[in-house]
Amino acid sequence: MNYTIALLAGDGIGPEVTAEAVKVSNAIAKKFGHELNWKPALTGAAAIDAVGDPYPPETHEVCASSDAVLFGAIGLPRFDNDPSAKVRPEQGLLRMRKQLGLFANVRPTFVFPSLIDKSPLKRDRIEGTDLVFVRELTGGIYFGERGRQNEGETAYDTCTYTREEIKRLARKGFELARSRRKSLCLVDKANVLETSRLWRETLQGMEAEYPDVKVTYELVDAVAMRLIQWPSAYDVLITENLFGDILTDEASVISGSMGLMPSASIGSEVALYEPIHGSFPQATGKNIANPLATVLSAAMMFEMSFSLKEEAELIRSVVNQSLADGVVTEDLADGAKAYKTSEVGDYLVSLIEKA
Ligand code: IPM
Ligand code: MN
Repeated sequence: MNYTIALLAGDGIGPEVTAEAVKVSNAIAKKFGHELNWKPALTGAAAIDAVGDPYPPETHEVCASSDAVLFGAIGLPRFDNDPSAKVRPEQGLLRMRKQLGLFANVRPTFVFPSLIDKSPLKRDRIEGTDLVFVRELTGGIYFGERGRQNEGETAYDTCTYTREEIKRLARKGFELARSRRKSLCLVDKANVLETSRLWRETLQGMEAEYPDVKVTYELVDAVAMRLIQWPSAYDVLITENLFGDILTDEASVISGSMGLMPSASIGSEVALYEPIHGSFPQATGKNIANPLATVLSAAMMFEMSFSLKEEAELIRSVVNQSLADGVVTEDLADGAKAYKTSEVGDYLVSLIEKA
């Protein structure tokens, strides 16, 4: 088959890690007889510098007309350190999510057997962890009305959800749970927030449609604790935008390196795949960033956007192999030889060719 993929490398290490994911994807395509047509487009600080807009209309066109989007990372310190900056790379990301209708962010957390002792958490706590967050991505406090009052001395951000927004997200959660261990946890703050009460009410109303899925309801503060105490107790967790942002960073620690965790943002049509880590500006151009989260995001793309499960499995298995063989970047090397970003990519390609 033939696939067109928008390639949004972005800022910092984005171009380096996406280059390796492209290399690996092309090796997979060659092996299985597919053709991948990559279409690079500008985003983030790179796009601000070039055209003054972090998500220019031309980039949206490329994304909207592709079969999938592979995204690197965005953000640079010169924007973070300037609270008065009018145009920020992150605005591009938020606008892209909204305009492409990417309302669900799927973020898995799992442990690699060969890395289990790299996690800051004890082995017996994390063994067997295999959970997925489905985070709402285009609503809530991220997109609510915000502003200043009282001559700038008071600030507000509002959180709004409609039943329909909750339902469409919940359907993704229920379906995912159905394809896994059939357990779904809604994470909310229903003891305080009205939006959370609407989330609970909506899910309770949907339970009868999915009688095979066991639904539990937990408060976000308790989940923040249980997630690192007993992560293997969870299967699929769904939650609103801000809680999901915070908890998925927390969950990524379980696997031992942020450089390992992939994600997919899905909605109505085109889906976007990206590592959950940021742009790691200090490492830019040094060829040291871990490309595996982006490579694993490409695996999600093969599986979810192209329905190519065998291809996705082969990517995951060569990633496992490279970890077991110690062909890893410095974040995982632990005193042993650290390989360069591009060397890890080359090794993955050689394993694919041999498979
Ligand atoms: C993420 C990031 C973004 C978010 C930022 C960069 C706006 O932290 O994808 O989790 O908060 O959604
Ligand atoms: Mn985040």
